[in-house]
Amino acid sequence: MFRIAPLTAGFLGRAAGEFESFTYPRLRPLLARAGQSTSAAGCIAVGVWMGEQPAGLALYSEPWALPPEGAAAASLPPGIDSADAADSARSPEATPPKDRRRLLSVMVHPLARRSGLGMRLLASGEALARESGTRRLVAVHSSRMQARQAFERLLAVCGWRPPQELEFRLAGRAAWAERAKHDWAGFLQRLADRGFGTTSWRDMDDAEWAKARRVAHELPEADRAFDPFSRNIGVTPLADLSIVLRREERIVGWIVGSRGALADSFHYSQGYALPEVRRLGWLAAGARDVCERQAKLHGAASLSVFETSQGNTAMRRFMERQLEPYSEWTDSRYVSEKELQP
Ligand SMILES: CC(C)(COP(=O)(O)OP(=O)(O)OC[C@H]1O[C@@H](n2cnc3c(N)ncnc32)[C@H](O)[C@@H]1OP(=O)(O)O)[C@@H](O)C(=O)NCCC(=O)NCCS
Repeated sequence: MFRIAPLTAGFLGRAAGEFESFTYPRLRPLLARAGQSTSAAGCIAVGVWMGEQPAGLALYSEPWALPPEGAAAASLPPGIDSADAADSARSPEATPPKDRRRLLSVMVHPLARRSGLGMRLLASGEALARESGTRRLVAVHSSRMQARQAFERLLAVCGWRPPQELEFRLAGRAAWAERAKHDWAGFLQRLADRGFGTTSWRDMDDAEWAKARRVAHELPEADRAFDPFSRNIGVTPLADLSIVLRREERIVGWIVGSRGALADSFHYSQGYALPEVRRLGWLAAGARDVCERQAKLHGAASLSVFETSQGNTAMRRFMERQLEPYSEWTDSRYVSEKELQP
């Protein structure tokens, strides 16, 4: 009654549309790409039919390589989110073999759930991935995912390792900057009196770039991951939404903004303050400042997303204490992995 098969070039042309509803809108273009390429370098899509009706889909990314040592976005593959740009910025000779794939989505028709189809889709996708040279599967999901429990259990019964927290995110509309300007008036005034200021990367001249690079170059070893000029920061900075933080004329930190996966969303994944201004509020004021810029450029309703890696407890505390009152949602993202034997 059920048939499971890879969606390949032969029939995907006519079938792709029917399977689109079994994955997220932003991934649908990949589904078409899976059909164009039957080579090992393409995406993998596996469909399940109930009679003639599509009833489920598992979709995997193109193969990708583990980023070189020290890369910031180590667990995120190219092709679907902000890690994209980082991959293209990397030099090819530094790239190890492309032996990883990401499980992008797996979905079964509500009426056909709990009859083993999810497991069979994953088993079939896994076999195809293994044949194509994949040695590790990776999946990233959010604590806000509706079917979180079902998905996590499905991965567990399919032999995946338990999910590990990857990063904490917090999102709010850019209009929050205006509210905070009002709420934080006294605090912002005190900071201004101490010399707080910001400059967008767009407005920096050569001398200021040289200054910023010098500061970044002198970062202590433990803070190297925050070097905004590293090719491994994992994002492509937007000059209008990336700022340096100043104390009088000196550069004492930065916040790097980049485009998010959703329309009208902007991500601030890199925020750094030198020890001399830590705990003085420079980052909080900088975050407000950059979102005010975002509101002007992209509208008060555009989304500002702040992200921090799981290990960065200082940044997380800052987000929870200072920014959460203005947020629309927060979540944690988890990464799960499964090793495939050749
Ligand atoms: C996650 C999903 C694909 C599972 O598909 P499925 O065909 O129902 O999965 P299976 O029948 O193969 O289930 C295999 C095992 O996973 C676990 N599982 C599946 N659904 C579960 C649920 N709702 N609650 C708890 N465990 C669940 C069980 O251990 C199950 O085995 P069992 O039925 O013998 O107890 C399906 O629930 C779905 O399409 N959800 C919505 C889409 C989605 O959010 N997908 C994940 C992110 S892309």
